[in-house]
This record gives sequence, C-alpha cells and structure tokens, in this order.
Amino acid sequence: MSETERPEYRRVLLKLSGEALMGSEPYGIDSKVLGDIAAEVAEVHRMGVQLALVIGGGNIFRGVSASAQGMDRATADYMGMLATVMNSLALQQALEKAGATTRVQSAIDMKEVAEPYIRRKAIRHLEKGRIVIFAAGTGMPFFTTDTSAALRAIEIGADVLLKATKVDGVYESDPMTNPLAVRYEKTTYSEVLSQNLKVMDATAISLAREQKMRIIVFNLRKRGNIKKAIMGQPVGTVVEEICHG
Ligand code: GTP
Repeated sequence: MSETERPEYRRVLLKLSGEALMGSEPYGIDSKVLGDIAAEVAEVHRMGVQLALVIGGGNIFRGVSASAQGMDRATADYMGMLATVMNSLALQQALEKAGATTRVQSAIDMKEVAEPYIRRKAIRHLEKGRIVIFAAGTGMPFFTTDTSAALRAIEIGADVLLKATKVDGVYESDPMTNPLAVRYEKTTYSEVLSQNLKVMDATAISLAREQKMRIIVFNLRKRGNIKKAIMGQPVGTVVEEICHG
C-alpha cells in the first residue's frame, strides 16, 4: 500500500441503510446491489481498517410506519430489529463471498443464528481482522438503527461513525422535498439538532455529541464513497463540534 493509500481512521463503524439493499426493487434484497456493496466494503477492509457494521431493516420492515398504521410501536420495533438480523446474515454471506472474514453479533439472544453481543468479544474480533456486524439494533424498542450505530461506535471506541445512506449528505432542508436545498460540507451536532435536520434521529446525534463521535453522512449509491470517507477525502457532510478560536 502506498503512503497515499493509508486510511485516515484505524477503527470505523459503518452504518448501511437497509433500504439501499432494495436497489430498484420495491422490497427486500437485490442480490446484485448486495454483492456490489459487499465488494466495496471488503475492498476497504483489505486496506487494514478495523471495520464494524450496522445495517438498517427498512427494506424489509419499517417499525415507524407500521406503528403509524395502528400496530403498537414496541411490537413494530421488535419486527424491525428482526429485519436487521436478516440483512446482517445476507451481508455476512455476501462479505464472505467477497473474501472477508466476518462475525455477526445480535443484541437479541438467538444463539442458533448469531453470537450474542459481547462488547469485549466484538473488539477482539476487530483486532483479529474480522468484520463485525451488529444485528438487532440495541435490542430495545423505541431506538433506531442510527442510535444503535452511534452506541456501538462509542462502545467499541471507533474513530468515526460513517452513515452511508440514500442522500449525498446533510442539507439545510429535506432534499427529497426541496430540490434546491443546499448541502453542508461540515456542520455541528447542535445545528443538526436545533434545525431539526432529519439526517439522524435526535437520540443518535445527542449521543454522538456527548461522546464527540465524528459522523460522516454520504451517499451509499455512489460507488467509491465508502473508500473516500475512510481515506479522509471530502465526501458528503462531516458532523462534529467545530471549535472556534
Ligand atoms: P476466537 O477463537 O476467540 O478468536 O473467535 P472465534 O469467533 O473464531 O471463535 P468461536 O469459537 O467463538 O466462534 C467460532 C464460530 O462460531 C464463529 O463463526 C462464530 O461466529 C460462531 N459462534 C460463536 N458463538 C456463537 C453463538 O453463540 N451462536 C452462533 N450461532 N454462532 C456462534
């Protein structure tokens, strides 16, 4: 690896949107998209970075919208957590096909399917060069997979939380509804919270702010973006507390 190929971060938590796995399908997992994402993740992993993953479940089940339609929120959230387990297993298979060694740890005990979440064991796996996939969110309803990602990033001592999603970064307003919205290259946790910029939920942002966990939000659909983020090249939006003076 050349000097210029050196990753900026030693340990990274990468949060992948579940919805991205749908590709152009209305639902579920598009195996071509899954394979492409896995190939990209395996490639950055080969650069020597310690990599942990959290994947959402929105391509299979969205707890928030189910509860809006009358299902009680806790049940809907548990179903959402199970959806993340399915995605985690699919991602594990795809990553192993791409040549990476992986371990899945679940926050909900299901020993026949995955290891239980044990923080120190997860760290050990990372040190041994395995990609660790954290499934089943926090194991508790009322928390999003973004919050799980922030929590796990802090627990494992990650240097950065990468949020790979379907938009190019953090915008002054929702780019899905306002095509003229301007994207920030950098912003602060406080700005995201005070302006209600809906890039991550408030619990995730507050947790990251409290622990000074840098977040980079970028578009997962653009190939090469994960590598750029890990190399410290400009991509998407960086969220951190900017010190003045
Ligand atoms: P070390 O030997 O400690 O480096 O880690 P290891 O993960 O290789 O060893 P371990 O014997 O813990 O795991 C061997 C395999 O079994 C791995 O693929 C684990 O993911 C899997 N495994 C370990 N514990 C569990 C469990 O509780 N449930 C399930 N389903 N798989 C497990």
